[in-house]
Amino acid sequence: MKHFTSVQDISDWSVLWEKVKQIKQAPQGRKTLGQGKAMCLIFLNSSLRTRLSTQRAAMNIGLDTVVFDINQGGWQLEMADGVVMSGSKAEHVKEAAAVIGSYYDVIGIRAFAQLQDRAEDYQETIIQQFKKYAGVPIISLESSVRHPLQSLTDLITIEEYKKTERPKVVLSWAPHPRALPQAVANSFLEWMKTTDYEVVLTHPEGYDLAEEFTQGITSTNNQSEALQNADFVYVKNWSSYQDYGKIVRADDEWMITDEKMKLTNDAHFMHCLPVRRNVVVADGVIDSPNSLVIPQAAHRVTAAQTVLELMLDHA
Ligand code: CP
Repeated sequence: MKHFTSVQDISDWSVLWEKVKQIKQAPQGRKTLGQGKAMCLIFLNSSLRTRLSTQRAAMNIGLDTVVFDINQGGWQLEMADGVVMSGSKAEHVKEAAAVIGSYYDVIGIRAFAQLQDRAEDYQETIIQQFKKYAGVPIISLESSVRHPLQSLTDLITIEEYKKTERPKVVLSWAPHPRALPQAVANSFLEWMKTTDYEVVLTHPEGYDLAEEFTQGITSTNNQSEALQNADFVYVKNWSSYQDYGKIVRADDEWMITDEKMKLTNDAHFMHCLPVRRNVVVADGVIDSPNSLVIPQAAHRVTAAQTVLELMLDHA
């Protein structure tokens, strides 16, 4: 695996699943794989799970890590090629990525959508520029469009907890007081499309996702209908794609409640976290035995370690 920035980077699923199985059985079975190598994790945005799980995964294979909160002490980076750099940005990504790539063997980078300019966000410019100029493998720690480490985690979790070969998996929009990116939802659908699960997307009007992610996915604005007989209910807020980055309606009734979960086939509740209790999901649901949020988050280590091992095996 050269880079890990989308589901397209998985070239052999049987090798990936074999790796997942090995890591779950013996997380420290390959303690020397990363010996003498190091990874730089660059964050432009906050994180708990991505930061700590990726560091833990690296620790399991003897790979050193450095976390660089680039907005706190780093130079502001210019991403566009061919510009006159007379503004506030002191360094071009062309030099910065190449320099970091000369110090480290792998670079992880988190760069959320700005939610101002859709065309710009959907080019995933920061990830693409690092891929172009760093000269080493790049791992997306969540881009403006996708969150592949989260999606691999979600897939591992569903595979572990599914009771039928072809579970019904519902992705439901939920309310949130702040405008959030579409990355987790986009990526979740992109990864679900590689399975033969019954996948249903539900959201209020005005929250359609980009067609490249929803094409071929059953979609409805009727949340109750979608939840009928669901085996997994994956809940996430996202801001509007059409009216880009905006909260277009106050739809508090879309919160996932105990009553709504009764419509399902005793479904497991999933969320990538962090989650706002009693806004996105009622306490009763997230605290119930059917809630997978903690084992799901724990699988972030397995997912990150799988990606790192696949990268280092072919370094
Ligand atoms: N789910 C997730 O990516 O969590 P963090 O934002 O805390 O890393």
